[in-house]
Amino acid sequence: MINELYDVIHRRRDVRGQFTGAPIPDDVLERMLSAAHAAPSVGLSQPWDFVVVRDRELREQFYGHVQEERKVFASTLDPEAAERFARIKIDGVLESTLSVVVTYDAERGGTAVLGRHAIADAGLYSVCLAIQNLWLAATAEGLGVGWVSFYREPFLADLLGIPAGVRPVAWLCLGPVTHLETVPDLERHDWRRRRPLSDAVHTDRWTGGRTGA
Ligand SMILES: Cc1cc2nc3c(=O)[nH]c(=O)nc-3n(C[C@H](O)[C@H](O)[C@H](O)COP(=O)(O)O)c2cc1C
Repeated sequence: MINELYDVIHRRRDVRGQFTGAPIPDDVLERMLSAAHAAPSVGLSQPWDFVVVRDRELREQFYGHVQEERKVFASTLDPEAAERFARIKIDGVLESTLSVVVTYDAERGGTAVLGRHAIADAGLYSVCLAIQNLWLAATAEGLGVGWVSFYREPFLADLLGIPAGVRPVAWLCLGPVTHLETVPDLERHDWRRRRPLSDAVHTDRWTGGRTGA
């Protein structure tokens, strides 16, 4: 059991290019959303909502926006980095079976959210834990997830009719995949490498300055 959990954690991958578009059974989708909804949250605020996006037209509109934002980012890069970036696929919006947009409502839980008075971001952290639960559950179900963040929040809020004040936190492409890569795409494309654990662990006090710009 414990080995299975670690196996899922280490097998999980961000997927862009391996979606098959095959259907997701309703009970599987329900289990994954239920895993997301079981996440811990500050003050038990459960500040997330999940918008399941199946509509082709909405996904095409979002995809068009992502392509524009891709150009915006590319324009900030030096020529050598821009060339490497050009080879990297950054989304599977059209190829995946469906998408789940996860949102954050800071007003959920009222004005006195227990544990959030000093750290406003604790609400957002909670949403990210729900996302990670969904990601791991999908991996355990043999499915892939791809997090897309190449968008402007107002565009996505408007596209999906998300109420004012509720923030879209993630567009997650979801569905069956041919396989999960063993190495992250960004590493395979020589964009960036994973840090060794030993660089990330400090004992008692921070050692070694700041690393890994
Ligand atoms: C907050 C967040 C936003 C991300 N946005 C994107 C994105 O827009 N496009 C993309 O291709 N990958 C995106 N990713 C995936 C990361 O690139 C990926 O997690 C990282 O390279 C490590 O690879 P792995 O998840 O396969 O281990 C995002 C991941 C996170 C956590």
